[in-house]
Amino acid sequence: MRILSGIQPSGKLHIGNYFGMMRPALRLQEQGEAYLFIANYHALTSVADAEAMRQGTWDVALDFLACGLDPERTAFYRQSDLPEVHELTWLLSNVTPLGLLERCHSYKDKLAKGIAPNHGLLAYPVLMAADILIVQANVVPVGKDQKQHVEVTRDVANKFNHAYGETFTVPEPSIAEDVAVVPGLDGQKMSKSYGNTIEIFGDPKQARKRIMSIVTDSRTLEEPKDPETCNIFKLYKLFATPDQQAELAGRYRTGGMGYGTAKKELAEMFEAHFAPMRATRADLAANPDYVEEVLQAGAAKARILADETVQKARRAVGLE
Ligand code: ADP
Ligand code: TRP
Repeated sequence: MRILSGIQPSGKLHIGNYFGMMRPALRLQEQGEAYLFIANYHALTSVADAEAMRQGTWDVALDFLACGLDPERTAFYRQSDLPEVHELTWLLSNVTPLGLLERCHSYKDKLAKGIAPNHGLLAYPVLMAADILIVQANVVPVGKDQKQHVEVTRDVANKFNHAYGETFTVPEPSIAEDVAVVPGLDGQKMSKSYGNTIEIFGDPKQARKRIMSIVTDSRTLEEPKDPETCNIFKLYKLFATPDQQAELAGRYRTGGMGYGTAKKELAEMFEAHFAPMRATRADLAANPDYVEEVLQAGAAKARILADETVQKARRAVGLE
């Protein structure tokens, strides 16, 4: 099984990214041949500052390695170190109906926000299809919001295969259903665009403050509470074992526990989970040559498959 996923370097990673995409992708690295990349070409659709792009790309590299990406198992690379994806993007563009791109939720959301659409924003899913198809991935672990883009990839792969003969593996999305959507401080989907995130590698004091500011209902300390509708509990579940979850849920239902207590326990869970990774990240940051070597080696490994696929596609369409 070949697994591929990517993440844009367009902001500080938060626990929505971590539980929705990073951890499932890192778990899958044990089950097959994994490819993971930093989607800096995609980030050009929203990051217009060169220094922010460089810094963001580097930060994501440190974040993934600190969270347990094993470079021996997983080819980890910068998208821009594999410019071959652009040739494939063009070959795919010619079998991609415009309507398919115009129907993408993320494109429509951007239009609804009043963002003036350019070609990059519309073509975004075609580049994503090229990322996936270029390594002939079978499985693509992503958060729920990216599922439609993987479906576009499947459509485009099928259209190409139909027009030119079997060329691409048609991939399956893999959604971490137990996580689905991680709520933010306000209960909406956690997202950097809503300003409701808890960053995984921000200042730990700040993270604690953010946790203490999670929105709850106004039930008093004595009243019984419903864990299933509570944002604190939804986040606590992500960190806790089933026993720990059941124990806290029991205290919610009995009453006599205030939301402040639940927040403190969540903050402790957060700290216990991320403190060791934070230390690893600091070590990596002090060792940039090692990180650069990992990225270069990852790109070299991905290039072997990419060259093969691009050759095959060039031949299929008659460029060779
Ligand atoms: P953001 O919404 O903060 O801009 P991205 O769109 O860059 O995050 O998402 C990067 C990855 O993390 C995607 O695979 C996405 O599905 C996943 N992800 C982001 N936010 C969440 C969330 N709140 N719950 C689950 N997964 C998420
Ligand atoms: N669009 C994805 C996101 O915003 C990032 C991405 C780019 C990706 N190419 C990909 C994810 C290929 C999976 C496979 O999260």
